[in-house]
Amino acid sequence: NGEIMNRIFSGVQPTGNLHLGNYLGAIRNWARLQDQYDCIYCVVDLHAITTPQDPSELRANTREVTAGLMAAGIDPKRNIIFNQSRVSGHAELAWVFNCVARLGWLNRMTQFKEKAGKHRDNATVGLYAYPTLMAADILLYKATHVPVGEDQKQHLELTRDIAKAFNSMFETDFFPMPEPLILGAARVMSLRDGSKKMSKSDDSDYSRINMTDDADSIALKFRKARTDPEPLPESTDGLEGRTEAANLLGIYGALADETIQQVCEEFAGKPFSQFKVQLIDLAVAVLAPIGHEMKRLSEDPGYVDQVLSTGADRATQIATPILSDVKKVVGLT
Ligand code: TYM
Repeated sequence: NGEIMNRIFSGVQPTGNLHLGNYLGAIRNWARLQDQYDCIYCVVDLHAITTPQDPSELRANTREVTAGLMAAGIDPKRNIIFNQSRVSGHAELAWVFNCVARLGWLNRMTQFKEKAGKHRDNATVGLYAYPTLMAADILLYKATHVPVGEDQKQHLELTRDIAKAFNSMFETDFFPMPEPLILGAARVMSLRDGSKKMSKSDDSDYSRINMTDDADSIALKFRKARTDPEPLPESTDGLEGRTEAANLLGIYGALADETIQQVCEEFAGKPFSQFKVQLIDLAVAVLAPIGHEMKRLSEDPGYVDQVLSTGADRATQIATPILSDVKKVVGLT
């Protein structure tokens, strides 16, 4: 119906390099959704500081990630691109949600457990409360759809729990229940270990393809990527228990916009050495233009800053009336 507007919100942390997992799991889909939806894409610097960041690196990473979004095809005129800390409503709504969410809900979050590791008492309060800020990001705009990789699914479920609890506490239907959109390569794994997701925080740079890697590094990393001694299977059934093989075929399929079954049929019986040559060609063809555009934008920081500043103004215009309604509902004004 015409009353319920579809609004997309998603975010990416400005910590370290954007990698192929971010691209295939999220950013490429964001670019594709801009034709159908009103989209708000956020560089989440307040989330980044839940773990220690060097201030000048954080500033540089915020610009680099913004450049990455634009280089991947997200048009800052049609969409809103901004960094989180410039719209104070994120932090304000997060506080309200800290007073709605329950300790028990946050205790279940696997990302906190992974990130805090054995030194739980040493983790920041911010890292623990991270998911309530993420719920605030989404609900500050009453977003209905959230395109993310699979690792963010649990946080989306919590966001829905918070929206539901808020609505029932205040006997209202104020917040919509946002839906995750998990598209394409939902889970890109490490090139060194098929049981771990590709991540910015992995110590080995060989575990990931960065969006700024040049053709030589892309080739080297895929050549070194772990495989198994078997040739490629005829169908996806033959990928059972072969996590590294499944990952590389999945990456190829995502880059080529083919199903894994189609990739299997194309390379059935071939050795990995042969497949990897094609994979490298394809990855370079997709990533090189994006890397070049990121480099070009990095030489024009004034333009990138202007995009962020315009984006923050436009985001504020949407957020302000919603936050002011929240304050009325809660009794703060
Ligand atoms: P972040 O910065 O870790 O990752 C950004 C996006 O990339 C996806 N992603 C992956 N997808 C597939 N395979 C991988 N190996 C992989 N690694 C990362 C993530 O799922 C994500 O979609 N908490 C979020 C940021 C955030 C957010 C939000 C997202 C803050 N507020 C509100 C949506 C809505 C995060 O840390 O993403």
